[in-house]
Amino acid sequence: MKKDISLRSRAWFNDDSNPDMTALYLEKYLNYGLTIEELQGGKPIIGIAQTGSDLVPCNRAHIELAERLKAGIRDAGGIPIEFPVHPIQETGRRPTAALDRNLQCLSLIEVLHGYPIDAVVLTTGCDKTTPALLMGAASVNIPAIAYSVGPMLNGRYKGQCVGSGTIIWDARKRLAKGDIDYNEFIAEVASSAPSTGHCNTMGTALTMNCLAEALGMMLPGCASIPAPYRERAQMAYHTGKRIVEMVWEDLTPEKILTREAFENAIRVCSALGGSTNAPIHINAIAAHAGVDIKIQDWQAVGQHIPQLVNCQPVGKYLSEDFHNAGGLPAVIGQLLQANLLNAQALTVTGKSISENCQGAPLYNTDVIYQVDSPLKQQAGLMVLSGNLFDSAIMKVSAIDADFRQRYLSDPARPNCFTARAIVFNGPEEYHSQIDNPELDIDENCILVMRFTGPKGYPGSAEVVNMQPPKALLERGISSLPTMGDGRQSGTSGSPSILNASPEAADGGGLALLKSGDLVTVDLNQGSVNVQISSEELAQRRAELDLQSQYPANQTWWQEIYRAKVSNLDEGAVFVDMLKYRRLRDKLPRHS
Ligand code: FES
Ligand code: MG
Repeated sequence: MKKDISLRSRAWFNDDSNPDMTALYLEKYLNYGLTIEELQGGKPIIGIAQTGSDLVPCNRAHIELAERLKAGIRDAGGIPIEFPVHPIQETGRRPTAALDRNLQCLSLIEVLHGYPIDAVVLTTGCDKTTPALLMGAASVNIPAIAYSVGPMLNGRYKGQCVGSGTIIWDARKRLAKGDIDYNEFIAEVASSAPSTGHCNTMGTALTMNCLAEALGMMLPGCASIPAPYRERAQMAYHTGKRIVEMVWEDLTPEKILTREAFENAIRVCSALGGSTNAPIHINAIAAHAGVDIKIQDWQAVGQHIPQLVNCQPVGKYLSEDFHNAGGLPAVIGQLLQANLLNAQALTVTGKSISENCQGAPLYNTDVIYQVDSPLKQQAGLMVLSGNLFDSAIMKVSAIDADFRQRYLSDPARPNCFTARAIVFNGPEEYHSQIDNPELDIDENCILVMRFTGPKGYPGSAEVVNMQPPKALLERGISSLPTMGDGRQSGTSGSPSILNASPEAADGGGLALLKSGDLVTVDLNQGSVNVQISSEELAQRRAELDLQSQYPANQTWWQEIYRAKVSNLDEGAVFVDMLKYRRLRDKLPRHS
């Protein structure tokens, strides 16, 4: 339904009361061929927030796909204006891409607020690009639609299915044991990237794009289309057309990103067997949208949801199979059938999630299981707490039979274990010390990684899923319990205790732990406690010199980031930034 909308871009290009400024704003946008008729013709200006570049291979296909977005925008009566945002690429950015999520968000907000843009297409893909752009759009609240670059095709090596990231965790162990050599290791890992697109496992990239769709911010079926498929470019055209209609319907992020939408995203994440990075990003998007989502909601809202999707790292298949089995609409259709979603949540189509996906076809029930016979029951995250942290998360569904047998099946104390802590201050210490025989690491140990949260690293690193020392691997012990204040790659299937908040660098209890301390994990209670008296812990706190334990800032951005960032449970956001909301209603003064 077309509403009487006054476009904010008119304050730049059509302000009769201010011909001086209008002339100034118009002239430069004419210099590459746009005409006065277009810019003053009452057409909405649609920004395309471009995340692809040679530096960001995962999103690089967006450079060509933008042409199809523009075709759709023009056919629907809009004027496309493409602009770059700060690059983020997950694996190439040191010390970690997490450092730049808030920077990309910040820069997008300034562009959307400061320029004549009425609505925006968010070109999502690589891990942090999706939350960064959604956070920014939520703060500005102009109509916005996410459009994913899509995953790569399935990888193959010597006839075997090879998935992004997941292959590294596996091939690394075989390299450490001497089963393969360096050249084979490199070739095998490289084979997981056979085409343009983002990671092809259910890692953070595919999880976050599916959750953008589950939130209602992306056209149905968009998330899973592989980057090279023709449907990917066709979806660009439809997305371009739709964002123009959204302007006339005044369909803003605020109307879509409701508490109900976030609950849907949490539940869909369980059904996907999604990345353990999702709570950080979803909580951050919620914070920018002004919706109250707490880390405890992930257990309360999502733990009972079954896992339906059988994709790596916790399952078998890859994204191309997921797409051909029906993609996210099939998953949502199954969850709706069992009344597990808020069916009325509004989406970018202008319709509810159930109008979009009710009865969506499911073509392969080995890739996407039906809700009445799921792959796993209760697949959501557990939120743990105790005297070392206020919260940490664990993907209980990732615990395999071998781990369960070794740690969780004591008949006297089922689902509990006590282990001796081996503590590492950062991944460098882990790599240099893990095979040191003096540490005396055996199967009764828990490996602890600390000073790797947002402040400590800085940015929070994916380093908690540590592999056991070589001596244990050779004895057939392929995993130990692990715990830390950092993150774990979404492509890893380990049941680590992650994202401990507050982090050690923020004075969290992990900073007080010493190697040799006994730590008890109780999955019945959801608790993790070190077996030390509160007096002893207070004594250790009094002697603590925090700053000497993590690296100094190398850039000014790191200094700003460390001074402002919140803990992982709160989404690692800049709390100060959250007070600047609904920015489209606050026109900036003239230039
Ligand atoms: Fe960019 Fe995986 S590294 S999507
Ligand atoms: Mg990652």
